[in-house]
Amino acid sequence: VGLIFSQPIGVFDSGLGGLTVLKALMIAFPYEDFIYLGDTARIPYGSKSSTTIARYTEKNIRFLQSRNVKAVVVACNSASSVLPQVQTDALVYNVIEPGALVAATMTENKRIGVIATRATVLQKAYVQALEKIDREFQVYQQACPLLVPLVEEGWEEDPLTNLVVYRYLTPLISVQIDTLILGCTHYPVLTGAIRKAVGNGVRLVDSATAIVDLLKKDFSSGKLAPRTPESTGTLHLLATDVSDAFQAQAARILSPLPVPALEVVDIH
Ligand code: DGL
Repeated sequence: VGLIFSQPIGVFDSGLGGLTVLKALMIAFPYEDFIYLGDTARIPYGSKSSTTIARYTEKNIRFLQSRNVKAVVVACNSASSVLPQVQTDALVYNVIEPGALVAATMTENKRIGVIATRATVLQKAYVQALEKIDREFQVYQQACPLLVPLVEEGWEEDPLTNLVVYRYLTPLISVQIDTLILGCTHYPVLTGAIRKAVGNGVRLVDSATAIVDLLKKDFSSGKLAPRTPESTGTLHLLATDVSDAFQAQAARILSPLPVPALEVVDIH
């Protein structure tokens, strides 16, 4: 029984972006142990085929299982959107359904926009999740392939980024969405630019808050066993490729939480 209570929660993303999700989880569940895996050797996922993304996702889940996790949170939207193609016996959380549920409670005019990578848009994962909730929802998707590189470059305050965001969002604004799902781990970093483009009338949904709500529910229903809260939980930060930039950017995203040294792992 002791072993079960010391099992960590695995969180994985194609790279750094998922740290926005990890941070929200660590703040909400300070007594849990976490293992974060950033697949930095194979990023980006969002421009790859669903078969390839599913293969990487399966390997990452299996790797986290070998580290004895009690659940895996797939923070990456592109990976979440291909989960139906992934074989696994792990308890796996995707970010699509929780995000869709939050959007469904926020919209009043039933017009919901989704911005995401090309892979997520092609899978129509959010469209399906939203239509399952209410068939009257009108869902408008927009792939934004230029946004991830802008975030990775640290250009969130740059006028060029405002321009690119504005260009991507104009079609969604013109169909009068009142709710916008930030369907990619990197986009919460661009909240300032996105808010400027859509104005105050549009509600923004980010995956991090949505997945926290779901885990809270599963902890209280007993689906997920909480760690005994004798001390603050630990964090292991793993990545498939080393870079100095990763460590620095991890510190920036997780701040003010402490950031452990990065461990490099090889996943086959
Ligand atoms: N993590 C990916 C997502 O949320 C974005 C980065 C990538 O393309 O790998 O879709």
